[in-house]
This record gives sequence, C-alpha cells and structure tokens, in this order.
Amino acid sequence: MYSSAYPHDPIEQLFPDVFWVHGSIRVGPGMRLNRNMIILREGKELTLINPVRLQEEALRELDALGQVARVVRLGDFHGLDDQYYVDRYQCLFWAQAGQSTYSSPEIDVLVDEASPGPVRDSLFFVYRNAIYPEAALLMKKHRLLITTDSLQYHRDWRYFSGFTRVVFKLLGFHRGMNIGGPWLKRVTPKGGSLQHDFERLIQLDFDALVGAHGQVLRMGAKAAVRAEVRHLYGYEEEA
Ligand SMILES: [Fe+2]
Repeated sequence: MYSSAYPHDPIEQLFPDVFWVHGSIRVGPGMRLNRNMIILREGKELTLINPVRLQEEALRELDALGQVARVVRLGDFHGLDDQYYVDRYQCLFWAQAGQSTYSSPEIDVLVDEASPGPVRDSLFFVYRNAIYPEAALLMKKHRLLITTDSLQYHRDWRYFSGFTRVVFKLLGFHRGMNIGGPWLKRVTPKGGSLQHDFERLIQLDFDALVGAHGQVLRMGAKAAVRAEVRHLYGYEEEA
C-alpha cells in the first residue's frame, strides 16, 4: 500500500536540468510540514532524490521531462514514496547500506563516497559518524548541495500547519539555515559527535543548498552552514 500524494507546488526548474517540487506531508493529526523532491535530468534520464509522490497532473509533467531511471534515497527517514516510484517506473533504487526506517525497496546500487554520483559532475558526501544513513549530493557544476534532514534552509513555513510550526520552533528550528535538530539527536552516537562530518562537509565547494524540507538557498549557503556548525559545536575555525 502506497502513501497518498499530498498537496504540492508544480515542478519548478532551479538550474539547467535540475528541478524541484516543494510539497508537503501529513505526519499526524493536525501535523503537516513541507517536503521537497529534487529531479535531475541527464539526456532523457531522470533521477529522483528525496522522492515525494506527485499528483496525477504533475506525474504527467514529470513524464514529459524524461524517463525516471533511478530513485536515490539520501536519508534514512525519507523513504516513504520510494517504493511507489520504483514500482511505477521499474527503475533502480540507490541507497546507503543499513536502511532502517524503510527496509524496502531492495537496494540496487549502494551509495557511499566511493560511488560515482547518479549524474555527471556529481558526488556523494556521507555523514560517516551518523548511526542512521545520511548523505548529501553535490552538483559540482551548479555548486548546489542537496541534503535531506541534515541541513534545511527555512525561509518561511509554507505547508506547515499552525501546530507543526509551534512544535518546530520548540525543537529549535528557526528561519535561515538549520542543522536538523531532531535528526542530529537521532543520528549522533552516544558520547559521539558529527562535528568532523560537518567540518568535512564545509570543505565542499557549494554556494546553493536545498534540503528535503524548507526552501532553496541560491547563494551564500556555505557561509550559512559554517555559521550553524560553529554555533552548534562552539568552536573557532582556524584562519
Ligand atoms: Fe525529514
């Protein structure tokens, strides 16, 4: 049984051959929040990242863009609609080993930092210290970093119900760049830290960022991430 298609915006182009859908998910009674899917195109092939099930009309638009060749799960907690797409398109499923929240579909291509990205000029970054799989994908040409829960840029609270908005603020979310607090708590090993992962991440060459929640930050993303990392771990970087 698949999850329903929740309300979402139309497919929108971010860069040449990079599209996104800003949509939503209902996570409980009175609890709705936004959720994003990224679509990459290479020739006629499409790659879906952080899949969000689309409504019929948008599925036709997706089909007009190209043929879905693969679904990439970047974060353990965002697998709700993966099976739907894999069944619909009979496409390959890419994910890191050790998926725990959604044990299906079966993984066809294992994601790690040694794997080539799903399209040209892309590379995977893996949070090596996280106890649940989480990665990011760097689109080198566009200097765009695609994340799931780890980094979220919130400009507004569209698609959030009033209740979820309150809960999110209590969880420490704010406007601007956020390291996902509940995610970080879940994935940080007891007595451990993800500081080294974030330090490695800010070595990547990116300027734009889009996560599985929130909006797209088109410029200045690395500085914003660096400030959050500094704030979280309370250290001064060496000049
Ligand atoms: Fe999430």
